[in-house]
Amino acid sequence: MDLRDASHSLSEWRELIDRAEVGEVDEPIVNVDRDDLREYDAIFVGGGAGGRFGSAYLQALGGRQLVVDKWPFLGGSCPHQACVPHHLFSEAARELDLARWMSGKLWFPYFKDERASILEMVELFRAGRNSAHAFMNWQSKEQLGMEYILNAPARVIDEHTVEVAGERFTARNLVLATGARTRWPDIPGIDLPGVYDFASLVEDIAYEPNRCVIIGGSKVAIEYGSFFQAAGCPTTILSRSPLMRTASLHHVDEDIRCFVVEGMRTRGMTILEGAEPLEVVGDAWATGVTVRLADGRVETLEADFVFVGTGEQANSEPFVETLGVEVDDRGSIVVNRRMQTSIPGVYAIGDLIGAPMEMFKARKCGMTAARNVMGQPYEFDFSEYPDFLHSTYEITWVGLSEAEARERYGNVIVIQMPPKGVDFDELPLPCAEGSMLYAFTRPELTGFQKCVIDGESRRVVGAHHVGFGAKDAFQYLDYLIRRPQGLTIDEMGEMNELFLNPEHFIQLCRLRAGQGALVSL
Ligand SMILES: Cc1cc2nc3c(=O)[nH]c(=O)nc-3n(C[C@H](O)[C@H](O)[C@H](O)COP(=O)(O)OP(=O)(O)OC[C@H]3O[C@@H](n4cnc5c(N)ncnc54)[C@H](O)[C@@H]3O)c2cc1C
Ligand SMILES: NC(=O)c1ccc[n+]([C@@H]2O[C@H](COP(=O)([O-])OP(=O)(O)OC[C@H]3O[C@@H](n4cnc5c(N)ncnc54)[C@H](OP(=O)(O)O)[C@@H]3O)[C@@H](O)[C@H]2O)c1
Repeated sequence: MDLRDASHSLSEWRELIDRAEVGEVDEPIVNVDRDDLREYDAIFVGGGAGGRFGSAYLQALGGRQLVVDKWPFLGGSCPHQACVPHHLFSEAARELDLARWMSGKLWFPYFKDERASILEMVELFRAGRNSAHAFMNWQSKEQLGMEYILNAPARVIDEHTVEVAGERFTARNLVLATGARTRWPDIPGIDLPGVYDFASLVEDIAYEPNRCVIIGGSKVAIEYGSFFQAAGCPTTILSRSPLMRTASLHHVDEDIRCFVVEGMRTRGMTILEGAEPLEVVGDAWATGVTVRLADGRVETLEADFVFVGTGEQANSEPFVETLGVEVDDRGSIVVNRRMQTSIPGVYAIGDLIGAPMEMFKARKCGMTAARNVMGQPYEFDFSEYPDFLHSTYEITWVGLSEAEARERYGNVIVIQMPPKGVDFDELPLPCAEGSMLYAFTRPELTGFQKCVIDGESRRVVGAHHVGFGAKDAFQYLDYLIRRPQGLTIDEMGEMNELFLNPEHFIQLCRLRAGQGALVSL
């Protein structure tokens, strides 16, 4: 289907994607400028976050790109199976949590022991997700001037050649951007029906889960588990490492971790740490998970729904086979800070190059590859970054944890709310935007905030937040504290807060900024 000269509206795009998804359109959707005789500067293999942003940037620089995706849309797994459903479910978890705590109070109806339907939420997502896909196809063609082929897998032939639906395209460079998939644990029964990961949950589930066991302690496990529990489906997480202490999370502050994990337990979730899953049991359907507990006992936990949260592995195999590209021991493609692989002219970006598997990294990797392809030497160092996850709260952090700061600096000042030593039950603070109803009804649920400062340089070296709505601030805090000059407590005190704000760092810092020798608050 050649769409080069067509100009589809959003609803026409949506209809086309809907039809492709049910197999009514099985041909490639082609938007290629056959009149342009220039060689492609790069072909992007995979049009997810990395491939689409890289393509757009390369176009903006005046280059010529082609992006190919096996799905009938650009944008990749984030809006289709990953971030967007995750945020929809996490928002539902927050609302359900509020409904349970406020059950029967004010205008809130009685809800404490009610169920909410997980299946209904999945169906809501499935019914709506193609609108975002339609927009990305439209924007990429009509506004960003990108060339693309969709609904057709790409096969890399050599470092300059890609085959799509029987046609070969050549380019000066290739940018590999095919993302990652769940790393399924190798245990008996993992293939049974009734076992889902984040992708098959939104694609396949057709029944209402009533008892869930989650294998693994990843972000996905915490986020989805919090939603399942909040919906009223009793949920158990089996995690080898303590929650939030997994390898791909760094700088997690211990006080924050305890607040979050204890909070999950308070809400009824069973969290078994040091637990090793041995087998998914069941004949025609998963009926439970056998696990070796931390004390060595082996038990089988009943479930009608097993969810896998054991992290992800890069889709690198085809490129190892055809190009011999170097990968690390987890199968992620090895790149330098310009996103160049071991094969000259071949770049790799996004989840395909390993952790952190986050949108900012995928998109900026795409931009980095595009700039280097176009002759602009540009390096991207993602060793430090702001991070977040959801329980029924939004948990956000940047820079060093308190313990890390104490290892590095001799005079660490901590400004936190509630202050150290104050009982969470006694103080309705932080009385913050997003948690006001809790502040006046359940003070212990209002969240937790901590700012970590090097008392000598007076610089903020870490910030940590549990509550709602602080993510935006952390994007900018990350930039400010990583500048060569950093960000001092005095500069924080100079800022103009928009009170009542989700995070109270500006006003709390101002209470101490006048001090010559800083003291914790
Ligand atoms: C449940 C979950 C929730 C998440 N939530 C967040 C979040 O809230 N915030 C955040 O920052 N990150 C989040 N992430 C991570 C984020 O989704 C990824 O980091 C991001 O999508 C990676 O982008 P990418 O371009 O590398 O890969 P993808 O977006 O996965 O794109 C890969 C593309 O390659 C295509 N493809 C694969 N093989 C071929 C082939 N042979 N030919 C053509 N096309 C091919 C696929 O169809 C796909 O479109 C989440 C991840 C998960 C699993
Ligand atoms: N921003 C977001 O909200 C978001 C959401 C989802 C994912 N992501 C990103 O996606 C990437 C993948 O993250 P992730 O959290 O899914 O994975 P992860 O951090 O790699 O965590 C994997 C978890 O699975 C466990 N595990 C692995 N293999 C196992 C096995 N065979 N048996 C039992 N447990 C096993 C690990 O235990 P051990 O610790 O004991 O090894 C760990 O708890 C990360 O980079 C993450 O940042 C981001």
